[in-house]
Amino acid sequence: MVNEMHPKLEEPVSPKDWTSGIERPMSLLEHIPEDPEPLVELGSQHIVSVRQLNQDKMAQLFRLAALYETTPSLYQPPLTGKILISAFYEPSTRTRLSFESAWHRLGGDIMSITDPASTGIAKGESLRDVAEMFNNYGDLVVLRDNHNTAVYEMIDALRIPIINAGNGTDEHPTQAMADMYAIFKWRPELLYNDVPEEKKVNIGIIGVPSRMRTVRSLLLFLAMYPRGVKEVVIITSDEDEAFSEGQLEELESSGLKIRVSHELDGELPELDVVYINAIAWVGDSFETHGKSFKLGPDSPLKPGSIILHPLARGDELSTELDDTSHNWYFAQARGAVFIRMALLTTLSQRINQVMEASA
Ligand code: CP
Repeated sequence: MVNEMHPKLEEPVSPKDWTSGIERPMSLLEHIPEDPEPLVELGSQHIVSVRQLNQDKMAQLFRLAALYETTPSLYQPPLTGKILISAFYEPSTRTRLSFESAWHRLGGDIMSITDPASTGIAKGESLRDVAEMFNNYGDLVVLRDNHNTAVYEMIDALRIPIINAGNGTDEHPTQAMADMYAIFKWRPELLYNDVPEEKKVNIGIIGVPSRMRTVRSLLLFLAMYPRGVKEVVIITSDEDEAFSEGQLEELESSGLKIRVSHELDGELPELDVVYINAIAWVGDSFETHGKSFKLGPDSPLKPGSIILHPLARGDELSTELDDTSHNWYFAQARGAVFIRMALLTTLSQRINQVMEASA
């Protein structure tokens, strides 16, 4: 019988789908030979910027993420007895919950701060002193703060690793890891430096690299893999303000080819990956950019192309695209759990335990 209030309740759950089966992570796993060494080197480090990473470390992080994605439950959760301090001094849905989901799945416990007003910061306590306390209470910190400098203030006093989960307008390295994990599951061959010409991709980024931390970190990763990219097209109405000082020069020095455009529909038919974001978090609020750029069912998307979005979405991305094969943004958000599991295992120095168990 159909439930008139909620007809969807009567529908069978659809067999999934073009992005969330285990075939794609399994294929990525098969493309990357196991090598624990690059991840052992990362153990106990702070992760603040994409600049701290390289192809060898990322390949092993993607491999471990794919291993987690294809392993329904862990025989021996590697973080049992460890405590995560999840400090989110700015709103978040995906980053906080996916980090916490990742830590729970690895067997650890969590202390979560979702409002700085509930801590000594409301009484004027310095971030440095808060960090000194964190050393005594937990084993790893994940921090989101709307000030670019906050994570650096904490690092000076921290003896446990910290992960930057978004610092103002600067960087959001683990979001960009999730973006790249989605791209490599879609096309594993892009991991390598000898990508044949016909397999190279055009990537469009609808956003403002000078203002958006997700875009800044994604571009740094694309600069790590320039040989798989024909061209990056930045689509923005703020052409003069698209890049911060030195940003474009740094990216181009990697060999990445970058062009700026203000014509979305004119670019779409040539783009293999379309990344869209409209929000930049600045100070205590957010700015919306590119209101005229919208993706919808009538957009001239290239057949086979994928759409990525760090989310939260607004009017720029129509829900009518959700049930199309262009929708990789939900898979991107889902994969964030597994890439964060891989990073948390690494920084907690539990790589050998996991790799030995999977052998
Ligand atoms: N992508 C992202 O950072 O989303 P949240 O703000 O919900 O964490």
